[in-house]
Amino acid sequence: MIFLGKIMAVHSYKGGTGKTLVSVNLAASFAKHNKKVCLMDLDFRAPSLATFFRSEKVEYWLNDYLNGTCKIDRVLIDLRHRINGGGELFVGLSNPSTEAMREMSAKDRKWEMRALGRLLALRNSLINDKGFDYLIFDTSPGLQYSSINAIVAADLVIVATTFDRSDVEGTKRMLHELYDLFEKKTGIVVNKVLYDVSSKSGRTDLQNKMKEMYQVPVISIIPCFCDVSRAEGASIFTQEKPEHPFAKIVDEMADRIETNDLM
Ligand SMILES: Nc1ncnc2c1ncn2[C@@H]1O[C@H](COP(=O)(O)OP(=O)(O)OP(=O)(O)O)[C@@H](O)[C@H]1O
Ligand SMILES: [Mg+2]
Repeated sequence: MIFLGKIMAVHSYKGGTGKTLVSVNLAASFAKHNKKVCLMDLDFRAPSLATFFRSEKVEYWLNDYLNGTCKIDRVLIDLRHRINGGGELFVGLSNPSTEAMREMSAKDRKWEMRALGRLLALRNSLINDKGFDYLIFDTSPGLQYSSINAIVAADLVIVATTFDRSDVEGTKRMLHELYDLFEKKTGIVVNKVLYDVSSKSGRTDLQNKMKEMYQVPVISIIPCFCDVSRAEGASIFTQEKPEHPFAKIVDEMADRIETNDLM
């Protein structure tokens, strides 16, 4: 069974590089284009999607599925009412309560191995039985076990990085020591860019430089947008502000992934 670009883990070396923002907007962009998408919060260290979708009623969390106490159907929340376009969007949330976060951080290796088995089973069931086109795992930065599990379960790792020096160094190390180890197809998203990349040639230039530096495909170059920052993670730009340049860049990224055009 070969999955190609269907299951994505959005990961990074450092925190705050834009994983959650990219995950949500990418998922919504696929859904806008008639795809059936499932977005999952595998960041048990600092769950974020529960805030993004706080108005939704949660019956069970992803924590419960990984603990083996419920089926995945009870976790997934149908977000079709928030989607313009012909697709479908479902989300699986991780529990943001302090108690749940503490419980997840205390899990041992054996539990994490079982959780990986459950993640692989979920992947097969959603793609093969339930007809999902894409699964997107939003992860914790660095070498958290849940992130490694997400990387193992994915067939494309999207690495969000910035120009921060320690982030650049750490990202380079992870490319060679982590993703290569699992033989994962990897692409970089350079986020929060402060240079002027409004022209297509400027973007292509920087893209080529980044490709040379990281030696992997560059899926996207995203400038730092004040209004994206001001929205404080409360807006899905690809759905609510489709004309915003940030939304257009994410739509382009979705298109690239869909057509397997990763330069
Ligand atoms: N291109 C951008 N322009 C402006 N603000 C951005 C951009 N990308 C991300 N941000 C903002 O940076 C902050 C961190 O983004 P986000 O939460 O998506 O990062 P993260 O990698 O998921 O963080 P964590 O590692 O803590 O999970 C958010 O407030 C987000 O809105
Ligand atoms: Mg996040």
